[in-house]
Amino acid sequence: MDDLFLRACRRQPVERTPVWFMRQAGRYQPEYRALREHHGILEICRTPELAAEVTALAVRQLGVDAAILFSDIMVPVAAMGVDLRIEDGRGPVVDSPVRAAADVARVRPLDPAEDVPFVAEAVRILVKELDVPLIGFAGAPFTLASYLVEGGPSRDFVRTKALMLGEPKVWRSLMDRLSSAVLAYLRAQVEAGARAVQLFDSWAGALSPGDYEEHVLPSSRAVLEGLADLGVPRIHFGVGTGELLPLMRDAGADVVGVDWRVPLDVAWDRIGHEAAIQGNLDPAAVLASWDVLRGKALDVLGGAGGRPGHVFNLGHGVLPETSPDTLRRLVDLVHEETAR
Ligand code: CP3
Repeated sequence: MDDLFLRACRRQPVERTPVWFMRQAGRYQPEYRALREHHGILEICRTPELAAEVTALAVRQLGVDAAILFSDIMVPVAAMGVDLRIEDGRGPVVDSPVRAAADVARVRPLDPAEDVPFVAEAVRILVKELDVPLIGFAGAPFTLASYLVEGGPSRDFVRTKALMLGEPKVWRSLMDRLSSAVLAYLRAQVEAGARAVQLFDSWAGALSPGDYEEHVLPSSRAVLEGLADLGVPRIHFGVGTGELLPLMRDAGADVVGVDWRVPLDVAWDRIGHEAAIQGNLDPAAVLASWDVLRGKALDVLGGAGGRPGHVFNLGHGVLPETSPDTLRRLVDLVHEETAR
């Protein structure tokens, strides 16, 4: 087992900077698109052999230093009595949104062994097969709540904020249910063999630091601190979270994931150098010419300054327009430039 990625997460010395990509499995791959002609996305997530195949394909093709389980943040929520689907090109859609106490009561607790047995099974297949560590993941309570309350993707999260600020007791009960479920779900992935976890709070950047701290951080902290005894690195990521970085670290992260809006060195100063950092190349840069992409990738490495504790990644997921060959070339570039 090559544990380069795990050592970087622990800020231990590494012989080169490890790389993986959020959404390294997905529509930019012709093989994935071919599989999707015959299988729905949730069907792939719920079929351990298919989920494992898609997960491993990305690792083989790209030469990355970690695998991320192929699934979706809504998979556990769909197993909690919430009727949802994932629409092509749009994202998760919930037809009966959660907007009042009676709706929260419909969100059942999650028993991973009973409700999502296919997830641990996919993890078990992968840990036998892979020679890099597998990252388990979950959506953070706020990001999951945003889909439940809005009923689908949103730009401004107005309904979510209205519930959070207007009905704080109802909000808290929803967040409590979600944090218990997310904790159980992540623990199940680690117990099945995942070597690290990433908590995706993709949309937390919509909040002010004060609202994040009061209404969201306690739930994410319950998840991250509830994993502490397992001893696996905990990565905490969101988009547009420049002002939230110190709080996201305080919630209990070992590694903070940052998007491209904050230069890596500035982000690291905000997080503090007792934590590792993951990021943060703009995914759109991978669509530019090689010279431009190379320059931007070197800027990211320059921001890390060769300090231990940097995991190279994009600032958000791989875009569907991305060329697999360019992504592979980027992995090689990071490896070559950081070899020591
Ligand atoms: O390789 C990997 O990174 C693992 C796969 C993965 C998926 N979803 C598969 C997927 C991961 C880590 C996720 C997490 C996820 N899902 C997040 C958090 C990460 C982020 O991007 O911020 C969020 C917010 C979701 C919700 C969701 N599901 C969205 C916004 C979409 C995209 C809608 C679209 O079509 O553009 C999905 C669908 C989805 N999940 C796809 C994939 C590969 C799209 C392709 C498909 O439908 O097959």
